[in-house]
Amino acid sequence: MPPPTKQADTTVSNTLTGLPDNAPWFNPLRDSQDKRLPRIAGPCGMVIFGVTGDLARKKLLPAIYDLANRGLLPAGFALVGYGRREWSKQDFEDYVHEAVVAGARTEVRANVWERLAEGMEFISGTFRDDAAFDTLGAKLAELDRTRGTAGNWGFYLSVPPDYFSDVCHQLKRSGLAEAPANSWRRVIIEKPFGHDQDSARELNRVVNAVFPEDSVFRIDHYLGKETVQNIMALRFANQLFDPLWNSHYIDHVQITMAEDIGLGGRAGYYDGIGAARDVIQNHLLQLLALTAMEEPVSFTPAELQAEKIKVLRATAPVYPLAKTTARGQYTAGWQGSTRVPGLREEEGFSDDSNTETYAACTLEINSRRWAGVPFYLRTGKRLGRRVTEIALIFKPAPHLPFGDVMTSALGQNAVVIRVQPDEGVLMRFGSKVPGSTMEVRDVNMDFSYSEAFTEESPEAYERLILDALLDESSLFPTNEEVELSWQILDPIIQYWAQHGRPEDYEAGTWGPASADRMLAREARTWRRP
Ligand code: BG6
Repeated sequence: MPPPTKQADTTVSNTLTGLPDNAPWFNPLRDSQDKRLPRIAGPCGMVIFGVTGDLARKKLLPAIYDLANRGLLPAGFALVGYGRREWSKQDFEDYVHEAVVAGARTEVRANVWERLAEGMEFISGTFRDDAAFDTLGAKLAELDRTRGTAGNWGFYLSVPPDYFSDVCHQLKRSGLAEAPANSWRRVIIEKPFGHDQDSARELNRVVNAVFPEDSVFRIDHYLGKETVQNIMALRFANQLFDPLWNSHYIDHVQITMAEDIGLGGRAGYYDGIGAARDVIQNHLLQLLALTAMEEPVSFTPAELQAEKIKVLRATAPVYPLAKTTARGQYTAGWQGSTRVPGLREEEGFSDDSNTETYAACTLEINSRRWAGVPFYLRTGKRLGRRVTEIALIFKPAPHLPFGDVMTSALGQNAVVIRVQPDEGVLMRFGSKVPGSTMEVRDVNMDFSYSEAFTEESPEAYERLILDALLDESSLFPTNEEVELSWQILDPIIQYWAQHGRPEDYEAGTWGPASADRMLAREARTWRRP
């Protein structure tokens, strides 16, 4: 008898896949159930440095609870806070509870909370305090015995990079960076990874002197977003897009991360940093890399990172920077019906702050696939609305047999990956307008995550924390990616530093006039999402 083919015997089909259960290529245990089994972290714990900061309170602690609530953390998971406050275990539990109630995505359930709280400890000390780090070491050893964390610890550095060196030094001195046999030690670090290529190299040197690169997990929370991972699914799981994904068909690419929020309360971090360093260096260049890279041989971390590195190496600014970049700073204006202050009136920013709150640049990718296709990147605060998207704008059809009048409302085709909000993918193409003439105009075909799937997307930090605990490093940029991103951005930042101050734009608009001119000179316009 010939071996069954996919068409054969569909009567006994697996309910999950629709494939016959006796198909030799299909092993129900391996192929269908495995992908539905949750990936659960093994015995481990996490120490958070900077646990009283904004990021920990708003994102990390709620994400850890949500993971626990989804059953993805080990039963004996331990969470240790390290900070300057003189807190007892109870104080720390109360603080975490408040953060969880305010920020958790899933329901706060008493039994889950209690089990998580049992494994919480707080160690009081500065980042240079030998004795406090020794106490931390003793506490982790105790938790290994009482909670069964088995010597597996992640150290989350939710602290400004100025402290990386102190914390890493202490972790080394106290022996905590070194994993005992059959266990692991990892460090998870938050951006900013430096303020230019040299400082990024120095930071990497400091961290890599203590932790080998395969134990370093650099967080770019955009990579934890479902829609960002969907870029890879869209490109590499389909036949529809790849033939068009190149300079033969694509006119240009626009990558936008617009926010409507201002910078009140963030002067300490943001003043002197600005939009390019805050967002383009990391989030937008990662989006560019995923959009433009070649297909990885497989989805192992090394293969994926190799492709991103290749494309980042081929990426460079387009010159002259006076015409191909733009930067701005918001002034007072209206955000909907609310009057909002300008940056220089926000608490902590000086009257003469030169910090840009809007940045745009033109990049080229010197490869066979992309030569001649400009990638326009822009980000800004206090813009018209919050939206992050990648728009691939196609070249016009080479010939239109309909007559100019009939196609006056026809634009260029587009594929738009909407990262947030309204996560989804939109395709814009021309369609006949109902009626007796052959009028053609743009229409949208819209895929929306929330309509297509019932599952709610996990928060980016849930995915990334779990991946770090599971030693799954695909979604974490390597030291080389970080340094290459700075190499792309450094000339632009240096140019700006030598050429005056950012141009004003009114809050609630779409940025400075120079950003519009930047595209207008190439007969293009920014999308108004
Ligand atoms: C952070 C930036 O990395 O991303 C912030 O430092 C920005 O300035 C934030 O507001 C935006 O994240 P999200 O997930 O809300 O788009």
